[in-house]
Amino acid sequence: MTRPTCLVTGSSSGIGAAIVRQFAARGYDVVIHFNSGADRAENIAAEIRAENQVETLVLGGDLSQPDAPFDLIDRTFAHYNRLDVVISNSGVVNYIKDEKDEIVRYRFSETPIEHLDQEMTRVLELNLKGAYRLAQRALQRMMEQAERETDPLHRSILFITSISDIAPESTRIPYGVSKAGLNHAVIGAAFDGGPHNITVNALRPGVIDTPLTNRPSGIAEPDSGREFTVAETYGLMAEGGAQPIRRVGQPEDISFAAYAFTQIPYMTGQLIAVDGGFTLPGNFPNRELFIQEGLRQRQRG
Ligand SMILES: NC(=O)c1ccc[n+]([C@@H]2O[C@H](COP(=O)([O-])OP(=O)(O)OC[C@H]3O[C@@H](n4cnc5c(N)ncnc54)[C@H](OP(=O)(O)O)[C@@H]3O)[C@@H](O)[C@H]2O)c1
Repeated sequence: MTRPTCLVTGSSSGIGAAIVRQFAARGYDVVIHFNSGADRAENIAAEIRAENQVETLVLGGDLSQPDAPFDLIDRTFAHYNRLDVVISNSGVVNYIKDEKDEIVRYRFSETPIEHLDQEMTRVLELNLKGAYRLAQRALQRMMEQAERETDPLHRSILFITSISDIAPESTRIPYGVSKAGLNHAVIGAAFDGGPHNITVNALRPGVIDTPLTNRPSGIAEPDSGREFTVAETYGLMAEGGAQPIRRVGQPEDISFAAYAFTQIPYMTGQLIAVDGGFTLPGNFPNRELFIQEGLRQRQRG
């Protein structure tokens, strides 16, 4: 029996690793893709093969380089001769470290233009243009496949974007711009894929506990002075009521949703948050806090 095939970019870490495991557990042959983490990717592949009766293919590539996304799709297709699900997940945030190895954060209004140019380029080349190129070639390959074969009836492309598309932090604008831009590409691609039964959607995670959010947040614990990681900060906010589900997400929360979203033949062009309710309209997360702060401000005059 021929098994379906799933390629997940950036599956050497965090969310991507969980997604590729999820698809392998559901009987897909998988492509585990890495940029710098060849060893991590090989270990994940070995683990998957030990636990599932599926094939694994490990491929590297810096997807911010213009030809790399095309090459990745072509190598996948050459190996498996089919593409059923492609998940564009590789991504970076726009913080860089200075010479003291400390993260540099600038608010929107303060960012020096050279810094903005550098970081905007780095983020957009991977998050936006790399993902666009990958999905474009995937769509072309899937469309050719759909011409030849009517089985399976449905193929799927999923972009992992972010709730940062609509929930900006002033120091993370380039990242949010990249993710918001992708949402637009999703809709365009959905129009092209639809007539061939190829669905294209965006999964927009909230804060998920991965190496990406295991970096200093700039906010310190009041008593000890220890700096929280980003995941810890949002975990604390969730416990304090910032979202109805009172914890940060785990990679498995996203992998489960990624599998589900790619199995729905009649859903396309959708931009869906999986964020514990963080971005729900009508969510008044820190009402008590804001009331207290408002009262303090009035007292201060
Ligand atoms: N964690 C969150 O809270 C969160 C929230 C919303 C959206 N997301 C999105 O979810 C996706 C995965 O994030 P994560 O949290 O799992 O982060 P992560 O653990 O840092 O993983 C990032 C992945 O991207 C790959 N990557 C980095 N630079 C690359 C490049 N130049 N070319 C190709 N691949 C590259 C990495 O490969 P190597 O490790 O092999 O270098 C890694 O596999 C990202 O698109 C991120 O924006 C995350």
